[in-house]
Amino acid sequence: MSPNFSVPSVPEAPFDAAVIAQMANALFAARPGATSPGLATVPPGVQAPGNMAPAGSPLSSPAGLGPGVPGTPIPQGQIPGSNLIPAAPGGVLSLANRLPSALPHAVAGNGLPDTVTTVAPAFEPRIGGAALGVPEAYYFLANGHGQPSPGGRPAAADPLDALALQSLLPPAAVTPVSPSAGLPSTAPANASPTPAYYFVDAVTLPNGFVTPAKPAPHATVPLAGQGQHPPFDVHAVRRDFPILQERVNGRQLVWFDNAATTQKPQVVIDRISHFYEHENSNIHRAAHELAARATDAYEGARKSVQRFINAPDVNEVIFVRGTTEAINLVAKSWGGQHVGEGDEIIVSNLEHHANIVPWQQLAAAKGAKLRVIPVDDTGQVRLDEYQKLLNDRTKIVAVTQVSNALGTVVPVKEIVALAHRAGAVALVDGAQSVSHMRVDVQDIGADFFVFSGHKIFGPTGIGVVWGKRAVLEDMPPWQGGGNMIADVTFEKTVFQPIPNKFEAGTGNIADAVGLGAALDYVMRIGIENIGRYEHELVVYGMKALGAIPGVRLIGTADDKASVMSFVLAGYTTEEVGHALNDEGIAVRTGHHCAQPILRRFGVETTVRPSVAFYNTFDEIDRLVAVVRRLAGQRRTA
Ligand code: ALA
Repeated sequence: MSPNFSVPSVPEAPFDAAVIAQMANALFAARPGATSPGLATVPPGVQAPGNMAPAGSPLSSPAGLGPGVPGTPIPQGQIPGSNLIPAAPGGVLSLANRLPSALPHAVAGNGLPDTVTTVAPAFEPRIGGAALGVPEAYYFLANGHGQPSPGGRPAAADPLDALALQSLLPPAAVTPVSPSAGLPSTAPANASPTPAYYFVDAVTLPNGFVTPAKPAPHATVPLAGQGQHPPFDVHAVRRDFPILQERVNGRQLVWFDNAATTQKPQVVIDRISHFYEHENSNIHRAAHELAARATDAYEGARKSVQRFINAPDVNEVIFVRGTTEAINLVAKSWGGQHVGEGDEIIVSNLEHHANIVPWQQLAAAKGAKLRVIPVDDTGQVRLDEYQKLLNDRTKIVAVTQVSNALGTVVPVKEIVALAHRAGAVALVDGAQSVSHMRVDVQDIGADFFVFSGHKIFGPTGIGVVWGKRAVLEDMPPWQGGGNMIADVTFEKTVFQPIPNKFEAGTGNIADAVGLGAALDYVMRIGIENIGRYEHELVVYGMKALGAIPGVRLIGTADDKASVMSFVLAGYTTEEVGHALNDEGIAVRTGHHCAQPILRRFGVETTVRPSVAFYNTFDEIDRLVAVVRRLAGQRRTA
């Protein structure tokens, strides 16, 4: 994953955006042996599980709707959050549920007639709970801090257990399933079929761009806790995001503002609606059914976060409003306790203001000093200079994993190890990394990892602090109030254990549940699939943008994710942003809340397209065409 962004060797003259777009999309859509989009064949003699076609059948399905019995639509639309089979009554998911017993289903959640392979009713709040991402063990009353009460309902199989079941099946029987399968589909009935595979051998396009060779998704090793993934199909996942059909200024929306916020799949939208329609209550209190449902949903989301970041302990996951609040929590609580006069705090030159200002405030309050790791001319942090900054006064090192302004992927594991060797603790800001790469907090080794839900296809107003248990237990609460106490008298308050100690007041329950659904969705697609595809988009986009006369790419580190910042000679970044918006293309222009790093490169603002896994090569070509047009107009004016 080390693209070389030394670009302008590509000759400009033969570059034809339309031709390249056509070729790139054809190349990346090709799959040898595919008979039709998103399809696979179950060999004769293989018992087809419930959501697959009978043995020996070519699996046909409407585009994006996943495989099914020939001529019969695949199960869709019964339960948000499930890509497989709803749990049987009692919450137990069994292989028997997966037998091909396609039965008529009255209406899918979106009102479209459909078929299902079980008789679980749509949106049934308890029986289908496991598949919906709703844990069925009760959490409330007995202990109130995130552990099922003894005597509660049996723990339900969760959606990923269903994936684990899938991995028990013969590999040939594992067919591509859209992450949205089992959801109300927004795809029109006559949507045209689209190929499913995007990983091909390296090919040189006429403009000199060499498509990276990628291993077939099947060859990837399933990750702990992440099950086995179907191949990645950008056209199928696009149908999961209703807003991508939006038209802006007469053109289909191109959402290249993913570093600011990501769009939401239908499964997240539906999960939040379901919460308010069937579960809404405060949590951890009240002896009634809806309090139990809400608590189960909230704690189920905490488990999804735990699984997503591979946290050893679910109670190390604290819900907050977002990354900014997460860093403030650590600065105020841990920093307030551990940082004193003359101590030092290290951040990098790449940081978002949210990972600068709270530390600056802490340093000012305590008489401590903020020190900054410089970057090289590509925008990568200088580990040699970092090592010189570390000393026995260093108390905490706080760095981003991916720069929001440049896209640099920072070697956080090395930075954390060096911090620990110096006796400091380490915080990693994952706001811009979690949606693009695998995050394993145990592997990174930091003391804190923080991120926002809305950057990873979840709602705004919800985010996470993960911290090592011992570190969190040693920290004082940063806010006081209800929910976080075990006992209060006017003389003294005894606090709840983690995580409740850090969750004072009524939190953002519904959006935590929405975040859980978003993470489950990403895990079903497979973060490695996402990372590989996006990497190809970024390599392609950087080459194409860098070949335009007058474009200066800001941030050309070998290892980059999502972001392609640039300036165009003769234009303000706002002018470029407006021209793109006129064509329905959304990018952020400005300082991106990261002024120090832009000033390091001598600019105050950039144009910042940033991709997610639902973006396409066609969309990059639309962006490049506008920038090329602007560049050409300026030259001839
Ligand atoms: N942090 C967000 C961005 O980079 C808002 O745009």
